[in-house]
Amino acid sequence: MTKVIRIDRVGGPEVMQLVDVDLAPPGPGEAQVRHSAIGLNFIDVYFRTGLYPQPLPGGLGMEGAGTVEAVGDGVTEVKVGDRVAYAGRPNGAYAEARNMPASQLLVLPEKIGFDTAAAMMLQGLTVQYLLHRTVHLKAGDTILFHAAAGGVGMIACQWAKVLGVTVIGTVGSDEKAALATAHGADHVINYNREDFTARVREITGGKGVCAVYDSIGKDTFFASLDCLAPLGTMVSFGNASGPVPPFSLSELSNRGSLFVTRPSLGAYMATREDLEASAKSLFGVVNSGAVKVDVRQRYDLADVAQAHIDLEARKTTGSTILLP
Ligand SMILES: NC(=O)c1ccc[n+]([C@@H]2O[C@H](COP(=O)([O-])OP(=O)(O)OC[C@H]3O[C@@H](n4cnc5c(N)ncnc54)[C@H](OP(=O)(O)O)[C@@H]3O)[C@@H](O)[C@H]2O)c1
Repeated sequence: MTKVIRIDRVGGPEVMQLVDVDLAPPGPGEAQVRHSAIGLNFIDVYFRTGLYPQPLPGGLGMEGAGTVEAVGDGVTEVKVGDRVAYAGRPNGAYAEARNMPASQLLVLPEKIGFDTAAAMMLQGLTVQYLLHRTVHLKAGDTILFHAAAGGVGMIACQWAKVLGVTVIGTVGSDEKAALATAHGADHVINYNREDFTARVREITGGKGVCAVYDSIGKDTFFASLDCLAPLGTMVSFGNASGPVPPFSLSELSNRGSLFVTRPSLGAYMATREDLEASAKSLFGVVNSGAVKVDVRQRYDLADVAQAHIDLEARKTTGSTILLP
């Protein structure tokens, strides 16, 4: 029997139940992975609450690291005994072990441990595509990155430094401001206390930034548009405060021919080639020490409800893992 988290209905953290299941052998194209660590991500909250729909009953969790115990027919990407990690669908990473499409698995470099891998795959691959592909950032650019002391944010601050990009980060408390600064943010704004648009204008000498990375959504979207220089890009990649409401395209022309995009990890990692290239880039910055993955919270898998409560209450910083 294998312990997994199941939800029968959407709702609060209490809908997540730890149950025993019989894990079937891996099907064609699948590998069975025994998890050593599981990543916790804000997207798990969206699936749990129903903001993002999925068939029920179902599992949760999109990120894990562990060892391949069996492979199904036709699997070429991994073999039994490989240390692997992944980020992506289908949900079901909140489990001691699971079957996963082998095409989503990446063999881990020796130097990267399971805890780090489980913490960095989803958030790190996201930062890779956001900084390198959604906008082609170059040295000298200045960006605004919201929730700079969160899981994605802390990796983004460090990676932007590698590119020579100036980062203005926002955070919700002074403790988080210190963390964002320690991880490479050049300027930090506490948006619970300060008007972040006014501060961005001040910091950039009135010019605005070339890109805003906004994962907060409803509460910050329009003020974020006001931080952009003409022809700047609004990257709306999350909805921690709720989804962005519909708006008129004149909001973009009025502010200087802005671009807006709503990217998702799945679209950027749609092919094995894209996944391998992005992972190579991520493993590179982590192996070199340029990006340190800060696992700041660990919970037993059985305590996942508390992990969700803390994530939603903005109590976590950096990355969080669950231990099966
Ligand atoms: N599109 C993609 O490909 C993709 C991939 C990965 C993640 N994401 C998105 O990126 C964001 C960050 O993900 P993460 O897992 O690293 O989480 P996280 O940043 O560690 O946690 C979310 C943070 O958002 C801030 N926040 C602001 N308003 C909030 C509210 N009303 N409720 C809760 N939090 C609020 C909080 O930081 P402060 O207290 O400092 O404000 C909180 O710590 C999420 O929105 C996630 O959906 C998108």
